[in-house]
Amino acid sequence: MFVEAARPIILTGDRTTGPLHLGHYAGSLRNRVALQDTHQQFVLLADAQALTDNIDDPEKVRRNVMEVALDYLAVGIDPTKTTICVQSMLPALAELTQLYLNFVTVSRLERNPTIKDEIQARGFERDIPAGFLCYPVAQAADITAFKAAVVPVGSDQAPMIEQTNEIVRRINRQAGRELLREAKALIPSTGRLPGADGKAKMSKSLANAISLSASPGEIRAFVDRMCTDPNHLRASDPGMVEGNVVFLYLDAFDTDHAAVEELKVRYRRGGLGDVALKHRLEEVLQQLLEPIRERRMAVSNDLGYVRDVLRSGTSRGQQITQSTLDEVRDGLGLLSFDQKV
Ligand code: TRP
Repeated sequence: MFVEAARPIILTGDRTTGPLHLGHYAGSLRNRVALQDTHQQFVLLADAQALTDNIDDPEKVRRNVMEVALDYLAVGIDPTKTTICVQSMLPALAELTQLYLNFVTVSRLERNPTIKDEIQARGFERDIPAGFLCYPVAQAADITAFKAAVVPVGSDQAPMIEQTNEIVRRINRQAGRELLREAKALIPSTGRLPGADGKAKMSKSLANAISLSASPGEIRAFVDRMCTDPNHLRASDPGMVEGNVVFLYLDAFDTDHAAVEELKVRYRRGGLGDVALKHRLEEVLQQLLEPIRERRMAVSNDLGYVRDVLRSGTSRGQQITQSTLDEVRDGLGLLSFDQKV
């Protein structure tokens, strides 16, 4: 039986394929900064997972370990409260993955809706790298190795948590006891933010995202590009709020909710132009991103400090994941030389 930690354990991660963007901030980073005071938090720089669809560009994956670490520190993830680990340096995760793979079928992996979408988006068709198809199992290893109770993620990750819990139940059944714990996804109510064109989600691989380190000019250009209601031609026309990208972003980032509701009323009625509306959003985003950009500049001038943070976080992660691996080996009845028989 697992022992309940004094503070609930949180584990999340990000693939290190590019700098993080506003979608990550609304979807997960903001929660992490808030939760690190009341929870025991671990964050993975998921370079091993990033390799599963970037094996032709390991240099990109390596470089972005540092970039994402800078993003973490810039948004206010505090290494004295949150343990930041480099995933590929935790070998126990690979060993757990190998064991967990026996508790999942290929057809179940192929039915994972996020994997299905990603296979389509990457054009793998039938040539799916096995490591890619199996990354949800590796993610189950990530989550369970740290004994996470809560996983703050965007809604696209919900199927991963579901799949993790299925594996946990199978393993517990096999072990005949509650060897591993199930985890809960913590998904923000704002939902997934679209890119500026309003079509796809904001994605690191698509040009319509805005990174957390964007310059004031890039922020302005991003807001300018945003789609509003295509039938809202004159300021005096009534406009649609639903599906309007600018309102989606205001809902996600403007802390003055009453003012946003008022803007919605005016927009629907007619009399609020897109220029004025975008102006408000631009102000909100400039204010949000300025301190993040400044902190990022400051820490990027001290990469030795960043490396120390990762080194000590990874070392702590190694101990924790190894100890879970020992328990799982034991629970599944694998040989140990310390045993009497
Ligand atoms: N799959 C996540 C993403 O694409 C990254 C990730 C790796 C993760 N391991 C994790 C998220 C464990 C939550 C928990 O962003």
